[in-house]
Amino acid sequence: MGTFHYLGHKMPYLPAEGCAGRLIVLEGTDGVGRSTQTIMLKEWLEVQGYAVHDTGWTRSKLVGQAITDAKMGHSLHRLTYSLMYATDLADRLEYQIIPALRSGFIVLADRYIYTAIARGIARGAERDWLRDLFGFAVAPDLTFYLRLAVKDLVPRVLASGKMNYWESGMDMNYGDDLYDSFVAYQSELIEQLDAMAEEYQFLTVDARQEPQAIQRQLRRMVGDYLHTSAYQLPPELAEIHALSKPMG
Ligand SMILES: Nc1ncnc2c1ncn2[C@@H]1O[C@H](COP(=O)(O)OP(=O)(O)OP(=O)(O)O)[C@@H](O)[C@H]1O
Ligand SMILES: [Mg+2]
Repeated sequence: MGTFHYLGHKMPYLPAEGCAGRLIVLEGTDGVGRSTQTIMLKEWLEVQGYAVHDTGWTRSKLVGQAITDAKMGHSLHRLTYSLMYATDLADRLEYQIIPALRSGFIVLADRYIYTAIARGIARGAERDWLRDLFGFAVAPDLTFYLRLAVKDLVPRVLASGKMNYWESGMDMNYGDDLYDSFVAYQSELIEQLDAMAEEYQFLTVDARQEPQAIQRQLRRMVGDYLHTSAYQLPPELAEIHALSKPMG
């Protein structure tokens, strides 16, 4: 049995207790390598017979596209920004994440409330207001924090050619140009994530390593966790798993 609980106030109509699945979160600032790791982790888990659901911000049916549209127009008030992200997560929890957890899936979340809180704080919202806002989120079982100092992040992001308006905090005038703004805004996000790491028991991983080395570390920790937390495949999945194993 899972040990699911909400981080703060619950969604009263959505009991999360007793879910068989597990929620694993990959946190880290923009461009740090979360997607690269999530894809590899998903593949590895699936090969072992686990059912995996992957999720990430703006993937809700309700407001995912609306957030993308609002960001295109560069016209999103800083509080509306946090409220829209909260709506996106609430919708995904209700229709995707909690149903998957109830069915025994491993849910891999590419970013979770910690990014949303860090971004909200970087936009001047009150820390307590943000924590309360996101109190409806279920607590992850494992939260990995891919950590990279801003000096190591900049070349990685420049190499992938993805320094954009929002990831540079340009809406908040963090700097005169995109580059300066990126450095100042990302430094703030990293500082906020660092501050949450201990309180929320993040498992911090040095993201300066090669992707394969990071992946080995993640797989070892996930493997150990699934073993020691007595995760059990639901009977239907266990049956399929047994069938897919070589005979003899
Ligand atoms: N460990 C690593 N070392 C060097 N480069 C990396 C590493 N991991 C990923 N990259 C490269 O950095 C870029 C960003 O990687 P990725 O898309 O996985 O990051 P992300 O955290 O998901 O980014 P975003 O915030 O845009 O979603 C890609 O070009 C990827 O190939
Ligand atoms: Mg990504």
